[in-house]
Amino acid sequence: ILARVICLVAGYAFGLLQTSYIYGRMKGIDIREHGSGNAGTTNALRVLGKKAGLIVFIGDLFKAIIISAIVHVVIGHLYPNEVYLYLAYAGLGTVLGHNFPCYLHFKGGKGIATTAGIIVGFLDPVIIVSCLIAFIVIVAITRYVSLGSITIVTMFCIEYAIFAFHGKYGFDLASAPSYHAMVESVIVVAVICGMAIVRHHANIVRLLHHEENKLGAKKAVS
Ligand code: G3P
Repeated sequence: ILARVICLVAGYAFGLLQTSYIYGRMKGIDIREHGSGNAGTTNALRVLGKKAGLIVFIGDLFKAIIISAIVHVVIGHLYPNEVYLYLAYAGLGTVLGHNFPCYLHFKGGKGIATTAGIIVGFLDPVIIVSCLIAFIVIVAITRYVSLGSITIVTMFCIEYAIFAFHGKYGFDLASAPSYHAMVESVIVVAVICGMAIVRHHANIVRLLHHEENKLGAKKAVS
């Protein structure tokens, strides 16, 4: 339990590096009062331009990659069969810190660049490449970043669950405790992905009404 809590709390601390908010403040604005009102890459790109979008994406991506790398090293040493369980907890913490930062009245982003960092941290080339291709194709065709985001978190969850149940991530499925840890990791990943979808509820309503903001449009509804 303690290691899970430590991963969650460490992740939350990393997630607090809310790049879009910090960058916006450096430019004299609160990103949450502009565009879609979301503190994330897409809105930074929309409101502050391409350079801002890139910096925010890299910042939010790497905070998840860095904490994942730490988990790989530390937990890989302590519990080599359960690394992915702790990666999931650290990832969940990071998204919670990003989406609900305590110092911003818990009003942050939707956690997609951060979840992309978690996906990279899982080090599964099949998941990384399939999510990347799906995102690029969907956004290129529809211009809806939100639709690409919802698709990749769904794919991540399903692919991880299938591969985990097939024994891909080092869990010893023949031992009951390790099997339970694997199932727990699938549940935590599902929570991460479910939370991303819930955070997109307004986007989903707009998508259904064909009113969603398109990539490249300067004006945005929130
Ligand atoms: O990653 C967030 C993206 O999926 C949607 O952002 O600003 O259009 O709500 P936004």
